[in-house]
Amino acid sequence: MLKWEEYIMGKYKEVLFMKIIICANEQELDRKAAEELANHIRRNPDTVVGLATGGTPVGMYKQLIDMHKNEGLDFSRAITFNLDEYVGIPYDHPCSYHAYMNDNLFDHVNISRDNINIPDGLSESLEQACTEYEEKIKSVGGIDIQILGIGHNGHIGFNEPGTPFDSITSVVELTASTREANSRFFDSIDDVPTHAVSMGIKTIMHAKKIVLLAKGADKADAMAKALYGPVTTDVPASVLQLHPNVTVFVDEGAGSKFPTK
Ligand code: PGA
Repeated sequence: MLKWEEYIMGKYKEVLFMKIIICANEQELDRKAAEELANHIRRNPDTVVGLATGGTPVGMYKQLIDMHKNEGLDFSRAITFNLDEYVGIPYDHPCSYHAYMNDNLFDHVNISRDNINIPDGLSESLEQACTEYEEKIKSVGGIDIQILGIGHNGHIGFNEPGTPFDSITSVVELTASTREANSRFFDSIDDVPTHAVSMGIKTIMHAKKIVLLAKGADKADAMAKALYGPVTTDVPASVLQLHPNVTVFVDEGAGSKFPTK
């Protein structure tokens, strides 16, 4: 059993180590985060990477594409698992996370299509698809490095406040605030799906390394609570305090509410 699992069972009280890197601006964050991931792939070409969507990692993906084109960063053996996908949106819909990943990374690097995994939000049996997703992650030996963004409400993946820390991949209902935040990608808020398939918090916590990214002053509250507040299901990202290998990249805005020494 991992230490964080003992913690949530009340057996372990110590908060573990986190490396926090405050970047001068978004470009520096994109570059440093891409470098972190690229280093893993260079050291171990068979790396199993957990990928995130949303506005935050777009710049990091651009950097990775540049590294592929200019420095030969090789994705051919990497295996990827995305955190989440909306339920009920066709994969060629521009707002689906399948389309996002193709547009922002996969169409521009030499990743093998067979090595790409994204939750299936169109399955006739969503629960079975979730079980199979968990099994697939296990079958490749687990995720080596997981990229995460954070929601304004502290969510990671689509694990909204109140999600138990031992959750695994499942169908989740999106909160009003998440649908509102993501409505910027859709024509109207009514078009934003109400449900998604998301890796669970336990799935995420089983990654060997986690890289959390946050940009902008609007994420400052969520980040301060996640990193320095109590570990609570009210702030799903606070569980990361219990993971033994987390690196956090924030710009000055997102880090502006961290306590000063
Ligand atoms: P964002 O989303 O990168 O679009 O801000 C992050 C998240 O909701 O996890």
